Amino acid sequence: MVSSCPKRPVRKAVFPVAGLGTRFLPASKAVPKEMLTVVDMPVIQYAVNEAREAGIEHFVFVTGRNKGVIEDHFDLQPELVGMLASRNKSDMLEVLSKNQPEAGRTSFTRQQEPLGLGHAVWCARDIVGDEPFALLLPDMVMKAKNEGCLSSLMEVYNNTGGNIIAVEECDPKDVSSYGVVVLGEEQGGGFAINGMVEKPAVEDAPSNLMINGRYILQPEIFKLLENQETGAGGEIQITDAMLRLAKMQEFFGYTFTGSTYDCGSKEGFIAANVSFALDRDDTGPVVRKLVAELLGI
Ligand code: G1P
Repeated sequence: MVSSCPKRPVRKAVFPVAGLGTRFLPASKAVPKEMLTVVDMPVIQYAVNEAREAGIEHFVFVTGRNKGVIEDHFDLQPELVGMLASRNKSDMLEVLSKNQPEAGRTSFTRQQEPLGLGHAVWCARDIVGDEPFALLLPDMVMKAKNEGCLSSLMEVYNNTGGNIIAVEECDPKDVSSYGVVVLGEEQGGGFAINGMVEKPAVEDAPSNLMINGRYILQPEIFKLLENQETGAGGEIQITDAMLRLAKMQEFFGYTFTGSTYDCGSKEGFIAANVSFALDRDDTGPVVRKLVAELLGI
């Protein structure tokens, strides 16, 4: 039987960043793929900022070998701050401080073996503890129309409680790269979820609504992940554990209407760079002209 959950606040967010990023070799040989930049900000920073805007207080990173620079990125750099202050670079100081989590508000743990996304999330169980948490997959960089995707999920959560995942339409030929859902009736600003499948073959996909990498989950997911069998790709999949959780607790979908760039793929990463550069006052006009010249239009 499905039970409702108390609406406890969502204070912590988990960022799985252990992936090897082989699609970005040789760039990702010594630099984690999450540190590649979209314009001038590392990919990981977009997800962290989205979480902070949604009210997240504590940022939990599940890292792996060769990912230490992510920890450095979210640390204070006194020498740099001192140098910028002595040169009166207040604009740069502001950029640094607004991207800086407060002391004591980050945690880092390691996924020791690449056993899948579900396993990576499970590695955060002790740090998250017995409370609901947000999960953000940093490869998915989002440009919202108004508020960020996680802020919208939080609003739905405030109505519904339970578990919520964001979904959006994708090109039907791309479904085999994602988790795919079947949405049911509208409820509390979200939709009931009538089915979920991880990386289906194009011909078996129940819809083209893909799970876009933003989740609010109840801590009971950790118990399920503990004994989750391997699924698609021979990996422990969070989607498979969510399917089991949905049999026990309320589970909703929310349809995100902004733009999502899958920066785990070269095309998505390039598209994100062009799109964000075009939007910005400092880079937009020049990039627009350059792109038009390149395309001969
Ligand atoms: C993961 C999830 C999948 C989701 C996707 C979004 O897959 O398992 O359900 O649609 O992220 O990026 P991965 O990209 O880790 O293969």
